[in-house]
Amino acid sequence: MIIAVDGPTASGKGTIAKALAAHFGLPHLDTGLLYRAVGRQVQLNGGDPDHAEQALAACDFPVDLLDDDTLRSEEVGGFASRVSVHPGVRGALYERQRAFALQDGGAVLDGRDIGTVIAPEAPVKLFITASVAERARRRWLEMTGRGIVVPLAAIEHDIAARDARDMGRKDAPLTAAADALVLDTTHFDRDQAIEAAIEAVQARIG
Ligand code: DC
Repeated sequence: MIIAVDGPTASGKGTIAKALAAHFGLPHLDTGLLYRAVGRQVQLNGGDPDHAEQALAACDFPVDLLDDDTLRSEEVGGFASRVSVHPGVRGALYERQRAFALQDGGAVLDGRDIGTVIAPEAPVKLFITASVAERARRRWLEMTGRGIVVPLAAIEHDIAARDARDMGRKDAPLTAAADALVLDTTHFDRDQAIEAAIEAVQARIG
């Protein structure tokens, strides 16, 4: 069974995808990490994430970069969003994601285009969302917890900009698949969101 989990940044889709994978005993791939690795590699190369060829060259990142803590930073998230607009980059990362989705027994993948491009045949598709203000609040709490001091308004501004870029790009824009179940977690805490997602998957698979 393939479970596709898509949604904007800080919507809780990663947490939900991990919990679904644990609950249903499936392997999980955070596809955003692949784009983050490309973004980070462009940075390491001293390149420009908006330059299609330089971004494509960075798709050759060493596999151990995926374990690098720097990939989690807001700065690298922004670079990831910028490299992800290039069709060449999306094409270079496609096979890896597709193979993961098609492995025997199934898988959970989370990202922006899993239900629309990577695994459109997935029998279960969730689109996780929440208001910009709530997503900014969660990101702010998480960063504050890690000792990073950033004004809430700056995070809200970054999230809105990232949404606009991810939804506005021509190739594989962030959007809910027609057959996705949209789960708005604005008024849910972590456990409620996970529970709602498990229930939604169970309802879908019967
Ligand atoms: O989920 P994330 O914040 O780690 O993703 C970082 C960026 O990568 C996101 O802003 C857009 C891009 N991305 C994408 O285009 N397609 C995916 N399937 C996953 C991420």
